[in-house]
Amino acid sequence: MPARIAVVPAAGLGTRFLPATKAVPKELLPIVDRPAIQYTIDEAVGAGIDHIVIVTNEAKPGIEGYFKPSQMVVDKMRAAGRDELAARMERIGRDVQVSFVYQDKPLGLGHAVGCARALVGQATFAVLLPDELLPDANLLSAMSELNQKTGKSVLGLARVTMDQVSAYGCVVPGVDVTAELGASVVQLAGVVEKPKREEAPSDIVLMGRYILEPSIWDDIASLKPSANGELQLTDALQEQIHREGMHGIVVDSDHYDTGNPFGWLTTVIDIALKDPIVGKQLSEWLRSRGSG
Ligand code: UTP
Repeated sequence: MPARIAVVPAAGLGTRFLPATKAVPKELLPIVDRPAIQYTIDEAVGAGIDHIVIVTNEAKPGIEGYFKPSQMVVDKMRAAGRDELAARMERIGRDVQVSFVYQDKPLGLGHAVGCARALVGQATFAVLLPDELLPDANLLSAMSELNQKTGKSVLGLARVTMDQVSAYGCVVPGVDVTAELGASVVQLAGVVEKPKREEAPSDIVLMGRYILEPSIWDDIASLKPSANGELQLTDALQEQIHREGMHGIVVDSDHYDTGNPFGWLTTVIDIALKDPIVGKQLSEWLRSRGSG
């Protein structure tokens, strides 16, 4: 069965974006007119996911609030003749089943994903990090197809410059599988969390998309805190790679990191420039500032 259920971890503190994230979760920061997490939901739905499990915490009530029905606003938009917006508002949280689980303390990504175990059960599942934005669903669909073919977990990967490598989980590439699985597929021999530039095994990094086989749950349950005290998902992946093998697909479309001020700003500008409503106006404005 292809992955039909996705875990979206959104219980982190967002410290790289304080003080903005003191009261507004970074997952709700707007990208043009949609909160970042809505892009994640749309991407998942586009790849055939029909149930999303959001990992959140009590200090971020806005995330659940976003998915609650808002009949009063919908009625007002309808009365004002804004039917398209009303229909969009009505679809939020209804075009897919959305469930919430709670991570009491931000003990790391591995721990956050582990909080969804009881809801996901023994199915192959996806994990999408909502601060990594991928406006099209092709990568996740291709990952799901590869998972169906191999029966193994599949990671979303990106190539970065060696200066950027130490901000990510970095891939130790295995044997060349181009002939068998295509040029964008990498077999994984291992994964190293945030290596120093000079120790990085490659320029290929994890970019927040995972299709995982359920045997990962026991690897997550056995995690020990890493050097920074967090339970790292990459340590669980490393165990699964050694036991069962794993592949990754290198993305060839635009992808963005919205988890810090510069990344968010450039994401908003890039996506706004492609937007049919504000794109032209923004492009003219940028040009008038001498930067378009
Ligand atoms: P990040 O490391 O990017 O998020 O985790 P963070 O910890 O909120 O950010 P900084 O480093 O303090 O700025 C990627 C995703 O995993 C979630 C985050 O909410 C984010 O969407 N996460 C992270 C959790 O749900 N729980 C955690 O303990 C850590």
